[in-house]
Amino acid sequence: MCGIIGYIGKNNAAPILIDGLRRLEYRGYDSAGVAVLDPLGQIGVRKRIGRISSLAELLEQSPAAGNTGISHTRWATHGAVTDQNAHPHFDQSRRLVLVHNGVIENYATLRDQLASEGHQFESQTDTEVLAHLIGKHYEASILPPSKERLVDALRTALRQVVGTYGIVLLHQDLPDLLLGARRGSPLVLGIGKGENFFASDVSAIVAHTRDAVYLKDYDIVCLGSDDFEISSLAGKGGGFEVSRVEFSEQDVSRGDYPHYMLKEIFEQPATIRDAMRGRLNREESTAVLGGLQMSNAELRAVDRIILTGCGTASHAALCGEYIIESLARLPCEVEFASELRYRNLPITRDTLVFCISQSGETADTLAALRESRRKGHRALGICNNVASTIARESDGGVYMHAGPEIGVAATKSFTSQVTILSLIGLLLGRIRHLGSTEGRRIIDELEALPDKVARILECDAHIKAIAQKYAHSKAMMFLGRQYNYPVALEGALKMKEISYIHASGHPSAELKHGVIALITPELPSIFIAPEDGVLEKNISNIEEVRARKGPVIAITTEGCSKLDQIANDIIAIPRCPDFLSPILTAIPLQLLAYHTAVALGCDVDKPRNLAKSVTVE
Ligand code: M6R
Repeated sequence: MCGIIGYIGKNNAAPILIDGLRRLEYRGYDSAGVAVLDPLGQIGVRKRIGRISSLAELLEQSPAAGNTGISHTRWATHGAVTDQNAHPHFDQSRRLVLVHNGVIENYATLRDQLASEGHQFESQTDTEVLAHLIGKHYEASILPPSKERLVDALRTALRQVVGTYGIVLLHQDLPDLLLGARRGSPLVLGIGKGENFFASDVSAIVAHTRDAVYLKDYDIVCLGSDDFEISSLAGKGGGFEVSRVEFSEQDVSRGDYPHYMLKEIFEQPATIRDAMRGRLNREESTAVLGGLQMSNAELRAVDRIILTGCGTASHAALCGEYIIESLARLPCEVEFASELRYRNLPITRDTLVFCISQSGETADTLAALRESRRKGHRALGICNNVASTIARESDGGVYMHAGPEIGVAATKSFTSQVTILSLIGLLLGRIRHLGSTEGRRIIDELEALPDKVARILECDAHIKAIAQKYAHSKAMMFLGRQYNYPVALEGALKMKEISYIHASGHPSAELKHGVIALITPELPSIFIAPEDGVLEKNISNIEEVRARKGPVIAITTEGCSKLDQIANDIIAIPRCPDFLSPILTAIPLQLLAYHTAVALGCDVDKPRNLAKSVTVE
């Protein structure tokens, strides 16, 4: 949530910052701002509500020249969406300026205290309070201006703060320095040649450098154009590792697609393949997941699994529950990370916890991971972002290798997560009761998935036509049973978040327990009804809707004619085993939501009120 980029080097900072902000816009997009230190040592701040394009226009009218700068794209937490509340924020002296991602929980107390000392605030934000606090400690020092004095002030202020932060600041006294610090919110250091960067994630800087240091909690960084120093909040030298960023500038561009979401939907044949690459062992008819860092004996001892995550990741977890229970016959439970972190679940000694998160930075999922580990449980991550906090703090895990997902609506990460959960099911099943013939059959089916997904994508025009037909509906209902009940939830979430049409997902059989009251000729029901073990049951539920004149869109299996007479519109997916069907049935629902949102003129990649990575509670 919120995106930060800082630059120090020999080039004009503003265009680099604006370009970086555009790449971080998915993290928050209600307002944006830059602060640039000009050659005369003055700080110029430009900020504005709206998208990065508005800020870019402002900079054209009123340029800010200089080689050192910081910038921010905001997702409001404290304070309304106004120019004043946009970052960067000055301290009281107006010689220090700060951008922040996170939440300062004790800001009200700090603000009252600072106000009683004469500080005046221009915004309602917690960030401005932090800027004033650091500035206060800096101004109170009798030492001459120096890096050490500023770092001391930063340390003193951060020790008073409760909450999370990824921050970057600059001070007029020290034109050759940017300071960065993190606790709970991501911050990356990019190492260039004669120029260096801070960013919330590497996508903002990959056009300039692929050498990065993923900062750890409590790291404090002094950044010059040719060097950097990392220490900790406690004052000690901090260890660090320079990583090579896996993806290129190309991977974070939209290419010829009108939206990132569509690009990412169409990437799924490749991303599903990448989720399996090197992880299938035909000889032993099983999956190989070395990242779990668990021997077969340890996996054999597991007696219960908890899968947790938020939003789409929690829907993938639900698919995982069905898959793992059926392949490995292991008790498996799903809990929202936001609930798990505060629950006092009775967990057995041999319970294994999987924290699922595309970004690897979701605050609730991270807290659930930490709480599980604190209780002594082995907690593993299923993440896409390499070196994200969840990936680093977990006891092991599986990377998705799906490449950057920029569209706010999760698409390829969902199918990658379900693919990985299928691999986990296969592995756990094969060390329990699954025979090698069954294991080999599952591997064949997994390997066939990418081509099947590609075939579904060929139906894009057909799905678009259906989307246009129903786009003006006030509400929609998504229904599925068993493996496809979680897909109903996911289909409804996709529709809601990008088209703003109210949608709800339910197990089909729950219809008659209440929601059938909503059925009218104006409310389309989308049934996920492949030819599986519960098709006949789904058909009965479809009949119940039809009897009340509700229009039905059905996702079913190619060659199955059972729905021809009862559904108004049909989208066919290739045949596959029941437990793998969510990976296929999710795709038409992603396209349906996408084309509906486009037909309604919605901002598909940046839906209102949302941000890609929810790093606050
Ligand atoms: O990065 P994560 O997978 O942890 O994100 C979890 C949710 O915030 C995310 O899936 C969200 O629900 C998406 N907007 C759904 O499309």
